Amino acid sequence: MPKITFIDSGGTARTIDAEVGQTVMETAIKNDVPGIEAECGGACACATCHVYVEPEWQEKVGGPSPMEEDMLDFGYDVKPNSRLSCQIKVTDELDGLVVRTPERQA
Ligand code: FES
Repeated sequence: MPKITFIDSGGTARTIDAEVGQTVMETAIKNDVPGIEAECGGACACATCHVYVEPEWQEKVGGPSPMEEDMLDFGYDVKPNSRLSCQIKVTDELDGLVVRTPERQA
């Protein structure tokens, strides 16, 4: 099972066992990770599942699709390593992934 670590804006880290095939957002919601709201339920239509991918993981995770990029415009404090966590699928290759949640969602 791939492990994903979520670090909140206060620096608290939570490492979660994720299921391959689920999204990073679903993993967070299922495990009550604070800082991710996911109001649209994963349809890439709300930007409240915004996370920052740690720089060393950016290449493996990849960048946002054009649709996700448009939606990220509505995110709070968007940075070059911002992604919508509902658009990141958990794979075995992402074992050890670290993402940070923003101070608040949009
Ligand atoms: S959950 Fe709404 S955009 Fe990701």
